Amino acid sequence: MSQIEFDENVARALERMYMTPDVVGQRSDFLRAVALREGERALDVGVGPGLLVHDMAKIVGEKGRVAGVDASDAMVGISEKRCADLGWTDFHQADATALPFDDASFDVVTSSQVYEYVADMEGALTEVHRVLRPGGRVFILDTDWDSVVWRTRDRARMRRVMDAWDGHLHDPHLPARLGALLEGAGLQVTHREVIPIVNPSLHPHCYSFGILAAIQGFVAASGEVEADEAQAWADELRALGESGEYFFSINRYVFGALRAG
Ligand SMILES: C[S@@+](CC[C@H](N)C(=O)[O-])C[C@H]1O[C@@H](n2cnc3c(N)ncnc32)[C@H](O)[C@@H]1O
Repeated sequence: MSQIEFDENVARALERMYMTPDVVGQRSDFLRAVALREGERALDVGVGPGLLVHDMAKIVGEKGRVAGVDASDAMVGISEKRCADLGWTDFHQADATALPFDDASFDVVTSSQVYEYVADMEGALTEVHRVLRPGGRVFILDTDWDSVVWRTRDRARMRRVMDAWDGHLHDPHLPARLGALLEGAGLQVTHREVIPIVNPSLHPHCYSFGILAAIQGFVAASGEVEADEAQAWADELRALGESGEYFFSINRYVFGALRAG
C-alpha cells in the first residue's frame, strides 16, 4: 500500500491542521512532559513544519540548541523559514535511522507522530540512544489509530475507510509496543501518558476537520476504497456536523525514557 509523500502541498495542509487549537494544546501538553530547561541541547526527529522546534527553541534560549531532521526536503525548508530568527536552531534532511550527529550530542531527543512511519524502529531507537548523552532523555508521541471514536450510522463503511487509512503508516498501532522497543534499545521508560483530542462539533478550526479531508483523499487515491464510498463517508460526517450530532475523538500516547548515566 502507498504511504503519504510529504511534498509542499501535504506540508501546507499539515501545517494548517497542526495550528488548530487542538494540536496547539497537544504540543503544549507534550512539552510539559518533556520539561525542557534553558540551555539544553535538543533534537527533534521528523520536524514536519517545525512548530515543535519553534516552541522548544524559545524554551532552551540562545545558550541552548535545537536541531531538527526530516526525511522531506519540503518540511526542512518550511522549518528553516519558521525558525529563521532563532539562530540556535539547525535543520538537516536525514532519515530517522541515520542521524547526522556525533555520539552523545544531545540532552533531549523528541519525536512527535513520526515513528509510526518508520519500518526499522530498532535502528531508529539505536540512533536515539547513540546521540543522547548518558543521563539524557527521549520523549515520543504517537497515535494508535484504533483509539478513534467517530460517530457514524454506517460502522461497516467507517471500518473499511479506517482500515484503508491504516495503510498510510508502517505501524498504525505503534504505542502498544513502544515501551518494549525503548527498553530493548537500552532506554529506561520513565513516563507514559495519554493526550486525548475531543471534537464535539465539526468546524474548520478543529483537528478532525482537516484529518477528515486527508483521510478521504488518501483512501480514494489508494484504491482500497472507491472514490464514491469515500465521498459518502465524508458527506455523512459533514451532515452530522451540520445537524449537531457530530462526535470525534482520538488518543495520542506519550512515552519518556532515560539513557542510563
Ligand atoms: C505527521 S508529520 C509530524 C511532524 C511533526 N513531528 C509534528 O508533530 O508537527 C510526520 C513527519 O515525519 C517525517 N518522516 C516520516 N518518516 C521519516 C523518517 N524515516 N525519517 C525522518 N522523518 C520522517 C515526514 O516527512 C513528516 O514531516
